[in-house]
Amino acid sequence: MELKDVRAIITGGANGMGRCFVEQLRASGAQVFFCDVNPEAVAETSAALGVPGSVADVSSEADVSRMFGEAWDAMGQVNVLVNNAGIIRDGLLIKRDRSTGELVPLPKQRWDQVLAVNLTGPFLCMREFAMRCVQHDLKPAVAVNISSVTRAGNMGQSNYSAAKAGLVADTTLWAKELARYGMRVGAVAPGYIATPMVNSMRPEVLEKVLLPVPLRRLGQPEEIWQAVRFVLECEYFTGRVLEVDGGLRL
Ligand SMILES: NC(=O)c1ccc[n+]([C@@H]2O[C@H](COP(=O)([O-])OP(=O)(O)OC[C@H]3O[C@@H](n4cnc5c(N)ncnc54)[C@H](O)[C@@H]3O)[C@@H](O)[C@H]2O)c1
Repeated sequence: MELKDVRAIITGGANGMGRCFVEQLRASGAQVFFCDVNPEAVAETSAALGVPGSVADVSSEADVSRMFGEAWDAMGQVNVLVNNAGIIRDGLLIKRDRSTGELVPLPKQRWDQVLAVNLTGPFLCMREFAMRCVQHDLKPAVAVNISSVTRAGNMGQSNYSAAKAGLVADTTLWAKELARYGMRVGAVAPGYIATPMVNSMRPEVLEKVLLPVPLRRLGQPEEIWQAVRFVLECEYFTGRVLEVDGGLRL
């Protein structure tokens, strides 16, 4: 697909990598619409970039349906979806409290929150996207799922690793199911990237996480955009995941 023909929805587009994808697509001549759960960030991003956006929670079926309707009205169609919105709520499965010595389990709420945004969200958006593309016989159409290198199983991320691994599994099966309709589905698995999500880490923690990264630095959102762009443009790419992680092995 040529970028000038893209009519894209970017989820979680008001910050970090999502905002970078919005900017880069726009600069490439594509039409873009973004959503985000943070109303102030939506207003600020929309005004700063001159791109239409909507306040929507990707884990809400009603929000996703409304948001697709708004994007469709704004662009006349939608032929690209970037499932980018994500959150972290880290914690060990069980942890010994330093002061009391008691074992503390990971609260189920943290599991539910991360699965809802990082896995149910992409499912709801992908289902709505596929329905509309097939109903309108729109082809080619491409979806890009933002997974993570931590899908391999990262300590302290039972919820996040499971969601990001599940998203890659669904990338493969959605690619298989939807190829007959002219749709491609790819995933990008970033390593540690300089966005608000990672910049909120304490400096000593950041230094530790970079130790196993051969390139010894954080990636930049623009370097993840290069992978997203590849998935959009390469007509023979589907059902696979591109790892952009500075060589990190977990
Ligand atoms: N930063 C990294 O190192 C890194 C590494 C691997 C994967 N990722 C993934 O890349 C994606 C983008 O991460 P980022 O670092 O840019 O994060 P970020 O926190 O900077 O931005 C994420 C955006 O998603 C929005 N969001 C959160 N919950 C939402 C919801 N329910 N509905 C709609 N929007 C919602 C947030 O408001 C925010 O604007 C995420 O899926 C993340 O898991 C990030």
